[in-house]
Amino acid sequence: MFTSMLLACGPGSGNATYQALSDTEQVKFGKYMILGKTIYKDNCNNCHQANGQGLQGIIPPLAKSDFLKNNQQRIPQLLRFGTKDTITVNGRTYPPKMPAHNISNLELAEVITYINNSWGNEYGFVSVKKVDELLKK
Ligand code: HEC
Repeated sequence: MFTSMLLACGPGSGNATYQALSDTEQVKFGKYMILGKTIYKDNCNNCHQANGQGLQGIIPPLAKSDFLKNNQQRIPQLLRFGTKDTITVNGRTYPPKMPAHNISNLELAEVITYINNSWGNEYGFVSVKKVDELLKK
């Protein structure tokens, strides 16, 4: 109870994703958001920027990205192996220049949960179990 009150003030805690989770998942979500932010800083910031806006014409935004919202099943693979196709985000096309990321499945789950629930996004909690499943396909 006390922990969930503390986490209720944590990153992403006001959003719809958080509200829909069970107590145990809310604790996990809070952890993922904090660790995911660090992973983002270390691996994604240079390109997608701290505010998730990307770089105009070169790097797509993650903030309010329709691609991110509509392709949740594909995100772990895309991050693990990099991109080979042109991706269209919010009506603009970007070159297939995202490198592969050699980070663990847990780190993938954390950073995806972070981008799913930052900058006004409310695209859901992604557990490590879900990432395991999606990478086996
Ligand atoms: C070297 C620059 C670079 C880095 C580092 C990078 N990306 Fe990307 N990312 C791109 C580019 C370029 C695309 C578009 C790729 C395409 O069109 O195939 C992209 C596409 C995406 C997409 C799908 C399109 C969208 O905007 O919704 C997501 C999600 C994403 N990146 C998340 C991440 C995350 C999370 C990290 C860190 C783990 C990361 N990227 C690191 C350059 C980068």
